[in-house]
Amino acid sequence: MTARRSPSLAQGVVRVETVANLRRAVGVWRADGHRVGLVPTMGALHAGHLALVEEARRRCPRVVVSVFVNPAQFAPAEDFDEYPRDEAGDMAKLAALGVDLVFAPGRDEIYPAGFATTVTVAGAGAGLCAATRPHFFAGVATVVTKLLVQCLPDVAVFGEKDYQQLVVVRRLARDLDIPVEIVGVPTVREADGLAMSSRNAYLTPDERRIAGGLNVLLADVAGRVARGEAASGALAWGRQRLAGMGFDSIDYLELRDAETLEPVERATRPARVLAAVRIGGARLIDNRPVAPVVEAAG
Ligand code: PAJ
Repeated sequence: MTARRSPSLAQGVVRVETVANLRRAVGVWRADGHRVGLVPTMGALHAGHLALVEEARRRCPRVVVSVFVNPAQFAPAEDFDEYPRDEAGDMAKLAALGVDLVFAPGRDEIYPAGFATTVTVAGAGAGLCAATRPHFFAGVATVVTKLLVQCLPDVAVFGEKDYQQLVVVRRLARDLDIPVEIVGVPTVREADGLAMSSRNAYLTPDERRIAGGLNVLLADVAGRVARGEAASGALAWGRQRLAGMGFDSIDYLELRDAETLEPVERATRPARVLAAVRIGGARLIDNRPVAPVVEAAG
């Protein structure tokens, strides 16, 4: 792919491929006193992504959406080549929402020759998804740090669907003093509650039916913990149920503190039930909030 030298107009949205052109556009908006929102994505946009764009639009008069399938967050055996790509569809959806600019860099723009810097986030970036995808959060943290520094938005919007990612991004922004507000948006779901995901396209009809049970199971486990049941019991019950539902394997089912992702046994503070399961060619993740248990008086 050749990098375009100047911004191009596609269906009313300005599309740029270089950091220089991104900064030029954002600089003009800033000089006019406008707040800027950024929504980082890997494209193949669905209603979940679009909810993030709408949130950015509510908060900022200028919105940038980045579309970059980030090779650094895929392991060699993972689905980088198969990952769905739909540039024309994405541009049409973003134009309909009045997005101001799409940043669609090529690989060399993000990872120039000699690239040698990695951002790693300890704590929240360990365990859960990192246990089976050890490369993943360094890839995400590095590209998100770069996108934040390239755009320098006032607000950057991420989905709660990828809850560990959201916590990792909040941590890196705070730790590296990047002057941005990180905003989380609740998960957008299909009619049966399945969290929308570009990777749901990998599911066969039978797998899709089974996948719809994951969010129900998470809500059941969250309900048990909210009613005061200890995490160990509720999670053991949940794992047993999951194993019988037809998933090929369970990567994890855990109860974690909503802010730090440290394991918790009882939800005395806001917590999250989080899961990753595998079925056919897909790996599904989802999570549900658990309100703090209110101890009965007397
Ligand atoms: P991607 O999977 O394209 O997701 C982009 C953003 O959309 C993320 O913040 C994700 O949490 C959010 N999202 C996806 N499905 C959602 C749903 N059903 N409801 C609400 N939000 C949803 O996540 C990534 O890309 C990448 O890791 C990225 C942050 C762009 C870095 O490469």
